Amino acid sequence: MKAMVIEAPAKINLTLDIAGERPDGYHELETVMHQINLVDRVQLRVSDNGLRIRSNSTELPENEGNLAYQAAELVLRNFKSSAGLDIFLEKNIPVGAGLAGGSSDAAAVLMGMNHLLDLQVPWEKLVEWGAMLGSDVPFCMQGGTALARGRGEILAPLKEGPLLHLLLVKPDFQLSTAEVYRNFSLDQVADFPDTFAFIEAWKANNIEDIAYQLKNVLESASIPMHPEIEEIKHRICKLGAMNALMSGSGPTVFGIFSSQEETRQAWIEMKQQYQESYVVSSYRRGDNVGRKEEISTC
Ligand code: C5P
Repeated sequence: MKAMVIEAPAKINLTLDIAGERPDGYHELETVMHQINLVDRVQLRVSDNGLRIRSNSTELPENEGNLAYQAAELVLRNFKSSAGLDIFLEKNIPVGAGLAGGSSDAAAVLMGMNHLLDLQVPWEKLVEWGAMLGSDVPFCMQGGTALARGRGEILAPLKEGPLLHLLLVKPDFQLSTAEVYRNFSLDQVADFPDTFAFIEAWKANNIEDIAYQLKNVLESASIPMHPEIEEIKHRICKLGAMNALMSGSGPTVFGIFSSQEETRQAWIEMKQQYQESYVVSSYRRGDNVGRKEEISTC
């Protein structure tokens, strides 16, 4: 039986700006997305039993409610294929966290099926399918660091940039992206990102300036719903981070530190209260097994 395992990395938003609501109900974004080395592992196996999905998480639906399942269904439908597929998600990325875990799993399924079933779907088409599944899916397919516009699907890649040492803290609740956007109002934003200044800092590999430019306008919607997010930001900064920010629609907060050792010291403190705390860094292709050219076929 043909099978493979693909890594699906999480992302954080280093900046997130919103220009306003669009006629289609989505919001017009300008955001810098960055992949980190907190990864799910997506196992695909060709089978005779239709499409099935399982995972090691109790928080995910094992049916069409799962974005990875929808991705597989979309591919099979387009090929009018009767092929069966078993998907197993080894979840390490927290669910409902603002880290694009579900989008990254779906991206891995699209890219993995194309490879495993030798479908030869052109990259542009595959990305178009990704955008149909979710605004973050095209970025999860492209990877690295990118400036995203539109719904989040129009991507301009940024250079690799410095290796960031990051502490991630996810409080003990989830946030619905749709609800956060519903609660968002431009009038409530006190502090907008300077995306241009951020990109200059990124190009210059200047970690202090990068940390200084971290801003996310969605905090103005999420923090009033859960003030704990603000408390976590303060605690991470007090533990030595150069700065801390909520990722995406939250609730996960990340802090940038100057070394892995400092990150680890802060993690020891935060972990006492927050089970879902992680020491991570920027995702580098090749520092883990799997994903695109590193796909392992077993
Ligand atoms: O695209 P995705 O399904 O991931 O988006 C989830 C929800 O987040 C959307 O239904 C929408 O309410 C909101 N959203 C938005 N503007 C964006 C991206 C997402 O309003 N650019």
